[in-house]
Amino acid sequence: MMQLKINNETYEVDVDNDTPLLWVIRDTLGLMGTKYGCGRALCGACTVHLNGQPIRSCITPVSAVAGSNITTIEGLDSKESRAVQHAWETLDVPQCGYCQSGQIMAATALLSGNKNPSDADINSAMSGNICRCATYVRIRAAIKAAANNIS
Ligand code: FES
Ligand code: FES
Repeated sequence: MMQLKINNETYEVDVDNDTPLLWVIRDTLGLMGTKYGCGRALCGACTVHLNGQPIRSCITPVSAVAGSNITTIEGLDSKESRAVQHAWETLDVPQCGYCQSGQIMAATALLSGNKNPSDADINSAMSGNICRCATYVRIRAAIKAAANNIS
């Protein structure tokens, strides 16, 4: 048995140590907001926060994060995340939506550490999050709008 802290809840899970965190989140705990894209740390669809920092849950063995604070899209609750989600809605960012959970997790982590990101900062923070619908222009605009609205 392993103890996981996800979205301020504690879970006991009976899984192999090397099970990817993504599968525990989705299959064991039923939190379906975090998506599987590539399984190889190449797309960002599976992004969650580990102690506030974005990580790729598809390549993270669950044993590596036991006892740490994990946040998924379902558990986001900060002024930065609220500003991001509001901007995403206002600017109608998603197209198919598949990548957007990961995009929002990455954007929220960026703004949590940098309240006024430059274009270069945004490029650096978001470059690992791929959108096959190419919503990049709206994502950038929404991050800037969110930065202006964090209160
Ligand atoms: S599914 Fe994890 S980075 Fe693509
Ligand atoms: S909105 Fe479709 S992949 Fe990003």
